[in-house]
Formats: sequence, C-alpha cells, structure tokens
Amino acid sequence: MQNRIMITGAGSGLGREIALRWARDGARLALADVNEAGLAETLKLVREAGGDGFTQRCDVRDYSQLTALAQSCEQQFGGVDVIVNNAGVASGGFFEELSLEDWDWQIAINLMGVVKGCKAFLPLLERSKGKIINIASMAALMQGPAMANYNVAKAGVVALSESLLVEFKQREVGVHVVCPSFFQTNLLDSFRGPHPEMKSQIGKLLEGSPISAADIADYIHAEVAKGEFMILPHEMGRAAWKIKQQNPQALYDEMASMAVKMRAKAK
Ligand SMILES: NC(=O)c1ccc[n+]([C@@H]2O[C@H](COP(=O)([O-])OP(=O)(O)OC[C@H]3O[C@@H](n4cnc5c(N)ncnc54)[C@H](O)[C@@H]3O)[C@@H](O)[C@H]2O)c1
Repeated sequence: MQNRIMITGAGSGLGREIALRWARDGARLALADVNEAGLAETLKLVREAGGDGFTQRCDVRDYSQLTALAQSCEQQFGGVDVIVNNAGVASGGFFEELSLEDWDWQIAINLMGVVKGCKAFLPLLERSKGKIINIASMAALMQGPAMANYNVAKAGVVALSESLLVEFKQREVGVHVVCPSFFQTNLLDSFRGPHPEMKSQIGKLLEGSPISAADIADYIHAEVAKGEFMILPHEMGRAAWKIKQQNPQALYDEMASMAVKMRAKAK
C-alpha cells in the first residue's frame, strides 16, 4: 500500500484537503509549507481524520530545504510513496505591467518549486516505485488574459509532467498533473499584481466555483487510483479543454474579448 505522502503547501487550501483525503486512508504524511501555523492546524486535522505524520518548514524555492525534507521522510518513514507538488502563489497583470521581478517570483515558486520537488525526491520515488502529483491549473491550458506569468509557470508544470511521464515510465515512477479551474482557498492572500480591481475580480471567480477544495482532493484521489495522467476536476474545465483541442481559435477569440473587457475595467 502506497501510504507515505509528502505534500508542499500543506498549510492551507488544496494541500490541506489532499492531506485529509489521504489521512482517511491511514496515510503517513510529511506536511511542508512556509506557513508553520497552517501546518500545525493541518497535522491536527490529519490526526483527527485517521492519519499521522510530521510537519517541516520548507520554502520550495530553496533546493536544500527540499532535500532536507526528503531526508526527513527517509528518517521518519523509511522512504516516500507519493509526492504532491502543490505549493503555489497567485499573480495577475497585463504583460506590459508585469516587472521582470514579478516573472522571477512567479516562476521560482510555481514552476521551479515543482522542478526542485521532483528532483529532490526522485531517488526515494525510484526505490518505492512511487508517484508524483503536480498541481498545475486550467491556466496552463487556457491562457486567460492578464496573468501571463502564472499561465507560463503552470504551462511549464504541465510540460514538465509530460516530460517526466515519458522518461519515468520504464523506471516505474508514476506521474499525474492536475489542472483545476478557480476554487475557494486562501490563494489570493499571496496575490501580486498592479490592480486591486483584478484581485477582487479573481476573488469573485474563486467564490463562484461549483466545487470545493475538498471535492477536488476527492477527485484527485479517485483519478490517481485509476491511473489517469491529466486530471481536470471541474466539469466546465473538461468541456473548455475539449473545445480548445478541437478549435483553438474559438478559445483565443473568447480570451481576446475577455482581455478587452478587463482592460476597460482596469482603467
Ligand atoms: N485556488 C484556485 O483557484 C486554484 C486554481 C488552480 C490551481 N491552483 C493551484 O493550487 C495550488 C494550491 O493553492 P491553493 O488554492 O490551495 O492556495 P492557498 O494559498 O490556500 O495554499 C497555497 C499554500 O502554498 C504555500 N506556499 C506559497 N509559497 C510557498 C513557498 N515558496 N514554499 C512553500 N509553500 C509555499 C502557502 O503558504 C499556502 O499554504 C497552487 O499551486 C495553486 O496555483 C489553485
């Protein structure tokens, strides 16, 4: 049974709900985040749900903190079966407004944090013939306006996951990538962008999700068990992805008119 799990960004939102979903199976969890108070709360909830484990402060930008986390999994669990690269931050702004620092910050956490997580844990996963679950976003597939740095980081996570799927097949390390649409979490706390108006627009999108972080964690759990590579938890996301594959121009036109509306609102 694959029940030793490491999750980054486990102190809040989706990371916490994934921890709780696996805890209900009696999993042992390595919970990592920069938010230590959030981690303590997740561990308490994990124990109430039937799991156990430990917390460790880990900034996914720092490779040495990820290798230290892998070492802790080795010491405390004798290895690891599943890693979930989930830690992430939100950003927005039209391309001409995004600074190069905005790009570096976004790529360092949302893309390189995932690359570093995969690299630090690969030796353990090869031994256990384990699984990688990378949390990307529908932004990776749809490229909505005024969030180019987030779109690029998340598209990178999908491309990385596809690359690893192919490379690791023979080594029997499984790979899954998750692309949710908006859903309610604390993601906006990390929002970086030039317009307060944009932050409140995204806030409305998060609130409007028909499914919760807990629903998404359940869906991921079920799809990973089925061996599904690309996991799209929102029904509307699955429909939009189908349209994009059949007729990408229709999606580009839709996004272009959305960009016009957003520019008008941002003025
Ligand atoms: N909420 C959404 O609408 C949505 C949609 C698609 C994808 N996602 C993705 O889901 C993942 C989880 O986000 P969430 O919505 O649960 O948000 P959240 O803010 O509730 O949780 C994210 C967690 O990541 C942690 N984190 C941020 N930077 C970190 C760093 N450098 N090192 C370690 N931990 C760090 C935060 O402290 C936080 O606890 C993210 O990758 C996000 O991009 C979210």
